[in-house]
Amino acid sequence: MNDLFAAEPALQSLMEFARQAALHSYSPYSHFRVGAALKLSNGEIVTGTNVENSSYGLAICAERSAVARAVSQFGPQIRIEAVAIANLNNAASPPCGACRQVLAEFILPEAPAIFPASDGVRAMAFSELLPLAFEMKLK
Ligand code: THU
Repeated sequence: MNDLFAAEPALQSLMEFARQAALHSYSPYSHFRVGAALKLSNGEIVTGTNVENSSYGLAICAERSAVARAVSQFGPQIRIEAVAIANLNNAASPPCGACRQVLAEFILPEAPAIFPASDGVRAMAFSELLPLAFEMKLK
C-alpha cells in the first residue's frame, strides 16, 4: 500500500497533521516526539501527541491520546477511517501493540495506517497491522 501514500494527497495531509501534533510532544524523558492524526468518518481530523510522566510507566502514546480526544470531542460512535503517525526523530515508528488494540476499538479494518518505516513512509490496512484483535464477545 506504499504507492497509496504517494498517490493520495489526503493521506499526505493527514501525515502533516501528525507531524504538527508531534511539535507539542511532552517527552522530556525519552526525547521521542510522536504525533498521531485520525481521520474520522464525520470528516473531522483529530490529533494527539505523547505525554510522558516522571513516573515513566504513566506515559500515554500519541495514538491513544488522539483516540481519547476523538471520543471526548465527538462521542463514542466515532469511526476512524485513516490514521497517520509521525515522529520528529527521523526514526521508524509503527504504532505500539497497546495502541493497535486501542485503535482497533474504533477503526475500520480497511482503514489505511501510515507511519514512518526504515525505508520511508509505509501504508497498510489496519487489519494487516493487527490481525485477530481482541474483541469482547460474551456468549
Ligand atoms: N510512543 C508513542 O507515542 N507511540 C507509540 O506507538 C510508541 C511509543 C511514545 C511513548 C513514549 O513517550 C515514547 O514514545 C518512547 O517510548
